[in-house]
Amino acid sequence: MIRVCFVCLGNICRSPMAEFIMKDKVNNLGLDDYFLIESRGTSSEEEGNDIYLPAKRMLDSRGISYTKHCARKLEEADIDKFDYFICMEKANLRGVSYIFDDLDKVFMLLDKDITDPWYSGDFSKTYNDLDLGIDLLIERLRKQI
Ligand code: 4NP
Repeated sequence: MIRVCFVCLGNICRSPMAEFIMKDKVNNLGLDDYFLIESRGTSSEEEGNDIYLPAKRMLDSRGISYTKHCARKLEEADIDKFDYFICMEKANLRGVSYIFDDLDKVFMLLDKDITDPWYSGDFSKTYNDLDLGIDLLIERLRKQI
């Protein structure tokens, strides 16, 4: 089982979008049994909240299904629950460094920041970046199966 945790700031836009996009792709590949996929935020600002409505609409428009989400802040104990923590932007790496001592499992999804749509309002650009990054991630991770 490969355990992946996507990480953003609030855990209501990018990381839950990434979680459900990856679940959809893994399901289409028939690889569900090999992956555990969740998401967290580095901030407690949105804790308990569902995916932001415009992010849900974006997922709907691309045919990605999702279940009820409850935003969670990354905590120290999560380090042992996952094999990979996949961050959306460099600021998230810094956020994670305040929670974990060891950053060996922490990576960026792309070699650039994925724009926060909470501020940009451009959910489509964020979706496209997530879609590309997750294709690359799955290609890399499926070699371990
Ligand atoms: P996310 O977007 O990190 O992609 O979930 C944000 C959502 C909420 C806030 C910041 C970013 N906020 O400050 O409440």
